Amino acid sequence: MSEGQERAWDELSGRYRIEVPRDEAATSVLPGSELDPHEVFGRVAPLVVEIGSGQGHAIIHASRENPATDFLAVEVFRAGLARTMLDADREEIENLRVIEANAPEVLDHLLPEGSVSELWIFFPDPWHKKRHTKRRLIAPDFLPRVARVLRPGGVLRLATDWEDYALQMRKVLGESDAFEPAFDGEWAPRFTGRVMTAFERKGLAKDRQIRDLVYRRAER
Ligand SMILES: C[S@@+](CC[C@H](N)C(=O)[O-])C[C@H]1O[C@@H](n2cnc3c(N)ncnc32)[C@H](O)[C@@H]1O
Repeated sequence: MSEGQERAWDELSGRYRIEVPRDEAATSVLPGSELDPHEVFGRVAPLVVEIGSGQGHAIIHASRENPATDFLAVEVFRAGLARTMLDADREEIENLRVIEANAPEVLDHLLPEGSVSELWIFFPDPWHKKRHTKRRLIAPDFLPRVARVLRPGGVLRLATDWEDYALQMRKVLGESDAFEPAFDGEWAPRFTGRVMTAFERKGLAKDRQIRDLVYRRAER
């Protein structure tokens, strides 16, 4: 991290970062360490979780635009979280917290069942290499984790600039009983709450089409 990011990490963690009990790995979550979002935010409000929030551009924008909603950024990239906290501090944002942890473990061990109104995953595929396709997040074993934390009727929003990943997302979600598509036609319209990030810009510069998908958690 840069000196500024180190300083942000030290000075702003108390305000914005949720400390997580760890298992063995540095970004792990100790099983059984459930979090109470109402206690964390000091109120009862809809909760939006962004997985892989990167530099935080989307979630900072959303927190600013939606003060009645609470937002949680989940990232393993510490410098990105430091940047997110710096921006939150600069904009005096109160309805945002960040967690430095591996997302599947956050879903399994930290977020209570039915606690999330929306879950966002935008451009989750930084390494587009054949050998990494097995490590993609949006795969059949990931969906029950998302389904557990989303409230019935809750929304899962996805975006990617890789056609084969978009097709994989649509296929696995189409096969899941826990989710229903919330769009007509082939792909969802661009989510208006999703701001342009460096990753999207990079994809567009290489003439890749950006595809959005949106699904609703089926009633239990
Ligand atoms: C391609 S970047 C996209 C960032 C951001 N969503 C955007 O659109 O600019 C993907 C991000 O996901 C994060 N990520 C990947 N795997 C993760 C995991 N298992 N848990 C949490 N974050 C993860 C990476 O650190 C990276 O910042």
